[in-house]
Amino acid sequence: MSAPFYLTTPIYYVNAAPHLGHAYTTIVADAMARYRRLAGDRVWLLTGTDEHGDKIAQAATRAGLPPQALADRNSSAFRETWRRLGITNDDYIRTTEPRHARVVQAVLQGLRDAGEIYLGKYGGHYCFGCERFYTEKEIVDGRCPDHQTPLTWIEEENYFFRMSKYQGWLIEYLEAHPDLIRPERYRNEILGFLREPLQDLSISRPRSRLEWGIPLPFDERFVTYVWFDALLNYVSALGWPDDERFRTFWPHAQHLIAKDILKPHAIYWPCMLKAAGLDVFRRLNVHGYWNVGGGKMSKSVGNVVEALALTDKYGNDAFRYFVMREMTFGLDADFTEEAFVGRLNADLANDLGNLVSRATTLLAGARDGEATVGPPEEEDTAVHRAAVTARAAADEAMADFAFQRALAAIWEFIGAVNRYVDATQPWALARDPARRPRLGRVLCTLADALGWLGIVLDPFLPEAAGRIRAAVGVTAPPRLADAVMGRLDRVPAVARLSGLFPRIEDAARTAGKAARAARPARAAADTPDAPAAPIAIEDFQRVDLRVAEVLAAEAVPKSRKLLRLTVSLGDEQRTVVAGIAEHYAPADLVGKKVVVVANLQPATLMGITSQGMILAGSADTKTAVLALDRDLPAGAKVR
Ligand code: MSP
Repeated sequence: MSAPFYLTTPIYYVNAAPHLGHAYTTIVADAMARYRRLAGDRVWLLTGTDEHGDKIAQAATRAGLPPQALADRNSSAFRETWRRLGITNDDYIRTTEPRHARVVQAVLQGLRDAGEIYLGKYGGHYCFGCERFYTEKEIVDGRCPDHQTPLTWIEEENYFFRMSKYQGWLIEYLEAHPDLIRPERYRNEILGFLREPLQDLSISRPRSRLEWGIPLPFDERFVTYVWFDALLNYVSALGWPDDERFRTFWPHAQHLIAKDILKPHAIYWPCMLKAAGLDVFRRLNVHGYWNVGGGKMSKSVGNVVEALALTDKYGNDAFRYFVMREMTFGLDADFTEEAFVGRLNADLANDLGNLVSRATTLLAGARDGEATVGPPEEEDTAVHRAAVTARAAADEAMADFAFQRALAAIWEFIGAVNRYVDATQPWALARDPARRPRLGRVLCTLADALGWLGIVLDPFLPEAAGRIRAAVGVTAPPRLADAVMGRLDRVPAVARLSGLFPRIEDAARTAGKAARAARPARAAADTPDAPAAPIAIEDFQRVDLRVAEVLAAEAVPKSRKLLRLTVSLGDEQRTVVAGIAEHYAPADLVGKKVVVVANLQPATLMGITSQGMILAGSADTKTAVLALDRDLPAGAKVR
């Protein structure tokens, strides 16, 4: 049975362009919607724009445009941003649409008829930026606490919604529904606020001051207060009151907002719903604020980070990953490009990108692994268990909107699989025909782990997850129910997938690399010691470096340069021919621990097959074999 799930973002003001803050909310909403769809729920994701009120009217005047033209332009900018970020919203509401205005007027008329709205007088300190009056207590040095701009004293006749009468009811409701607002700190903030008497809410603005709004149906001299108008988008978009969509989704409504708009959502909105005879939403999920360079970020302050510029530079998936992993849902976070690049390199390029590259390279190179798959061993079932644990932790975290925890759980699994590759050493198994069945099993486990990641990562990194699924040959739409390991007993055909997340330095160096490539090819050939072109870390990691103990050494007959060494790599012995006879006597080397390239193709020198190469440096006539500055067991990995 698929459960309905209705998720909303705030509708954003159209007086400015989308920025990091808007992008965060919309991205986490999208990740949540994708997660629930993956789990089989019937999801409706709503976003849109808030287009009425002083703020928009003033911005339009500044831009020399009619308000509707400004709204059209900026609403399209938001819509286009979400399209480019791959947001999967099911609807996009604009408060200037007739479908919305109709609902606002119907609700107002209903409340007026029921005696919930009355005409009164109000005088107060007003901030045009915030579109609200401030109480004496809230004012800081005569200025708006938010914008630090001077406030204007305004006295006017207005219509009021009898919100005060719902104070007792709201407190009881919050007590009976402890998870209505989460995280808990915001619930506590609202309960604290409700200890003071609640005022009635002015829900109109005189047309003499503001034309740009939805006219009150019962008094043409006024337009609707922008918050009263905006909050109703959550039901107008579902086609309240008669639409089937409203009946299906409203009982499952979850709102997602940042802390800046907690009060209208946690106080005005439930009271409005109650007065209008509608059920209260199921949950209000509140996140913290992104700060940039230690300061608060907002459109009116100006130091905004353009969402699109960032995603253009680093890619949608990297951007999504960073914001979800970096911010603890509910708390504030700092945005710095260094932190972004750090996480991209460590978590995406290194942990995930390398795993995918290593595993797909091994799998793509498997020849007849299908035919010989041994039974799972403890190492394999430990990976299966790690997948079960990660899924459970991710599910639990997502139920709490704890995106950072969900990702941390998935990265635990990625770490476990990387360690599994190190421990099972499939490249070593590949050298030993007797261990083919074990290799087959290890490859199965890796393919299985990739399949799992291709599903579970889908809500967070939709592009990368799609590429992983394609590499392992999965074409069916992903479902969370299929993220179960341990069912594979044939090695599937897998395509190599490397460079899923290039390291940032690589990108920065591309220009230098291109410049070097343009030089005459001779230059590099003529100077063998010239710095080589940069390689990706994955390329370096394909070189299997190991600590080796020299067990025996002897001169190769008839050769001036070569020594024949017998070395131990822990559980295996190898013959290595080294060109160091002019610099080392055989006896000098026995007992030494050196570093060997363990995965070089064997080469025959003076009739002896060399199964590796020992590392040595040289300058002028000197040569030095690389040794360890403290002891490590033979076979230890060098990186
Ligand atoms: N139009 C109202 C909301 C009406 S909802 C019925 C509004 N619009 S807004 O354009 O100012 O958007 C506010 C929302 O944008 C925040 O609640 C949050 O979702 C997002 N953010 C804006 N700046 C932000 C940060 N600096 N950090 C995190 N999110 C922020 O308020």
